[in-house]
Amino acid sequence: MKHSASPAMQNAGITSLGLNWRYLAFDVPPESLRETIAGAKAMGFIGLNLTVPHKLLAVEMVDVLDESAKVWGAVNTVRFETKNRAGHWVPLGLVEADEVNEVRSHGFNTDADAIVRAVEEDLRCTIKGARILVLGAGGAGRVAALRFAAEGAAELFLINRTQSKSEVLAVEIGQRNPQVKTSTAYPNSEVDLVINCTSLGLKDGDALSFDEKQFSLKQTKAAYDMIYRPAKTPFLNLAEKTGKQTANGLGMLLYQGAKALEIWTGKPAPIGEMRRGLEANVYGK
Ligand code: ATR
Repeated sequence: MKHSASPAMQNAGITSLGLNWRYLAFDVPPESLRETIAGAKAMGFIGLNLTVPHKLLAVEMVDVLDESAKVWGAVNTVRFETKNRAGHWVPLGLVEADEVNEVRSHGFNTDADAIVRAVEEDLRCTIKGARILVLGAGGAGRVAALRFAAEGAAELFLINRTQSKSEVLAVEIGQRNPQVKTSTAYPNSEVDLVINCTSLGLKDGDALSFDEKQFSLKQTKAAYDMIYRPAKTPFLNLAEKTGKQTANGLGMLLYQGAKALEIWTGKPAPIGEMRRGLEANVYGK
């Protein structure tokens, strides 16, 4: 996997925790996912991370699902577990090799919580009670909006090129969190946060993901872009020029990975080391 920054981040964390583990990336076609999970289980792997489209497929392939994976319908973290002498399932990472008997795969989702943590820590913005403009209603925008609603955002403005998708999303939020106000139009007053969840900004020369005639970045306190490469998209540059707090999506990658490492090790993740490993890999610094 040429493009994955996760090995650099996870191996920095693993080294800092003094573990003799290694995190490796593999290119696996979706049709081989089932046998890959079975193979990792047979080889005594501690766990796995999965990316799109494997996250959705794995829901049907792991032995048990954590509540996080059930709620978000996706598995990005697998932990292999064995039974200890008392008959309780324990992470493979916490037992000696000779204590391993029957093994099961346990699926978790650490992506959705990472969105909230990234926005709250990197922008010092509180989601509870916030008014948020969410740009994009694809896979990432949908989870962000639903997670903000679950966190108690006061009002969500949902904008997407294909408007029908934001309308479907507004209905879904209404069903899950009816106390959250939703709108599929631009806000005409102040918001606390604008988040770009579209792919616009990934490529040189991409347009902004919102209509400057209908919304101005002067109307927001802070701007978050899920994109982290490039480090500064036109959206973040404009927000910065407008004097707003900004952060890019590196924090989301960091916090989902940190939570995964905690799931495998049972220890607090060394977040500073992991951030340094990630930044060195992505930005070469
Ligand atoms: P992801 O999992 O990254 O969210 P996705 O589900 O393909 O990927 O969603 C991509 C998002 O970027 C969508 O909101 C998409 O808008 P549509 O739903 O209308 O496709 C948005 N997007 C991609 N290219 C775009 C463009 N040229 N202009 C506006 N929005 C765009």
